[in-house]
Amino acid sequence: MAEKCFKYVILGGGVAAGYAAREFAKQGVQPGELAIISKEAVAPYERPALSKGYLFPEGAARLPGFHVCVGSGGERLLPEWYKEKGIELILSTEIVKADLPANTLVSAAGETFKYQILIIATGSTVIRLTDFGVQGADAKNIFYLREIDDADELIEAIKAKKNGKAVIVGGGYIGLELGAAMKINNFDVNMVYPEPWCMPRLFTSGIAAFYEGYYANKGIKIIKGTVAVGFTSDSNGEVKEVKLKDGRVLEADIVVVGVGGRPLTTLFKGQVEEEKGGIKTDACFKTSVPNVYAVGDVATFPMKLYNDMRRVEHVDHARKSAEQAVKAIKASEEGKSVDEYDYLPFFYSRSFDLAWQFYGDNVGDTVLFGDNDPQSPKAKFGSYWIKEGKVIGAFLEGGSAEENQAIAKVAKLQPTVGDLEALTNEGLSFACKI
Ligand code: FDA
Ligand code: NAD
Repeated sequence: MAEKCFKYVILGGGVAAGYAAREFAKQGVQPGELAIISKEAVAPYERPALSKGYLFPEGAARLPGFHVCVGSGGERLLPEWYKEKGIELILSTEIVKADLPANTLVSAAGETFKYQILIIATGSTVIRLTDFGVQGADAKNIFYLREIDDADELIEAIKAKKNGKAVIVGGGYIGLELGAAMKINNFDVNMVYPEPWCMPRLFTSGIAAFYEGYYANKGIKIIKGTVAVGFTSDSNGEVKEVKLKDGRVLEADIVVVGVGGRPLTTLFKGQVEEEKGGIKTDACFKTSVPNVYAVGDVATFPMKLYNDMRRVEHVDHARKSAEQAVKAIKASEEGKSVDEYDYLPFFYSRSFDLAWQFYGDNVGDTVLFGDNDPQSPKAKFGSYWIKEGKVIGAFLEGGSAEENQAIAKVAKLQPTVGDLEALTNEGLSFACKI
């Protein structure tokens, strides 16, 4: 089979790939120099839409509406844009072998791709309940959500099981966003997760209490401190019940599982240095292999602000790391260098009419401020994280654009605070005056 050669290859066609392509175009790329190879059948899009607007029962987001870079207010890159720029979009193509010493990638169909510079942007895959042998977890209508095809299958099931019963397994990002999406689609929703409160990776018990109360008011039943240990199915092989470790059994027409992601690094095992589960990079996203870069979910990079190596599974970093890598590649071709990546972690989520943002690091003491009563018509509350007398992290539900900017500034500048009670009383105004 013929071999295709490119100066630059981006492996993966997700968020980071799209933002990298835009940066290549900005910096100047010749037709035929750059290719994006993606397992997905569509051009890069803003993945966060899949668990939000894409699942709305009415007025749902659909492609081409949310191709990158609309999520950050930028130009929407349609397939024609790549054509105009001479960037080859090689879609529906899964790479099954990477030989980094030979600068070669091989697809499932046996095509060979050669590159001078490779950007690994393979993102994450979902952790499946079948991975830990949960009985019956391969039944029909048990869904995971990572790619657009997964979302399309879920939508078909929502239509087929109209007004049915949904069980959400997991209380993280997918759990909370999909719990809301299924409720909005008029399903009877149960959520199950092992921890004492939702989103324990980020939320304090005080933050979580608001969301759990809000979801309960919407009619969502939350079962904490237990896990799904098995599923039964009907004669069509469709899921019927979810069996919990505590002995309870929940009826289900649809199950959505969100029990975490895993960075897709397997193709490169033993060929590149890894750290903290990701591919180790420098502050320009260059890996231990000189002509290979890694960006987005797969990269473990130096987070200058905390003098630590971190991996981040969020869209803002996918966008910014991709831009940084391309700037560094282009600069090094001219014998120049770029400033080190100086990233301030930024995570956000939306569900129902709620929207929160978080900036910084969530370690140390915490204070909770504002109105966090889930019954309030317009609840607005937040938290600060304080370490060694400095505010290093800030969370805000229901903030305006200016207020969110203010908490971002606090997390970046890390002002000192003396009295935590005074900080609690000052609340958001502390951030707004910085
Ligand atoms: P991304 O997953 O976007 O892209 C990876 C691409 O590589 C995919 O196209 C995949 O098919 C392809 N690929 C992988 N292996 C391949 C192979 N062997 N051959 C060919 N192609 C291959 N974050 C946030 O901050 N706010 C939010 O609201 C959300 N919401 C959200 C919703 C949902 C449903 C998900 C799944 C994730 C989010 N996220 C999020 C996380 C965010 O979307 C994620 O961090 C970025 O998409 C990561 O970008 P990457 O480009 O690294 O991977
Ligand atoms: P997550 O890590 O946020 O949450 C996983 C949850 O599942 C945790 O609460 C965990 O304890 C729980 N869990 C683990 N094992 C379980 C079990 N056996 N039964 C029940 N619960 C169990 O992961 P996720 O929600 O699956 O998200 C996957 C990826 O998508 C992540 O990278 C995430 O960052 C990304 N994502 C991000 C957003 C956002 O930023 N708004 C939205 C959706 C997805």
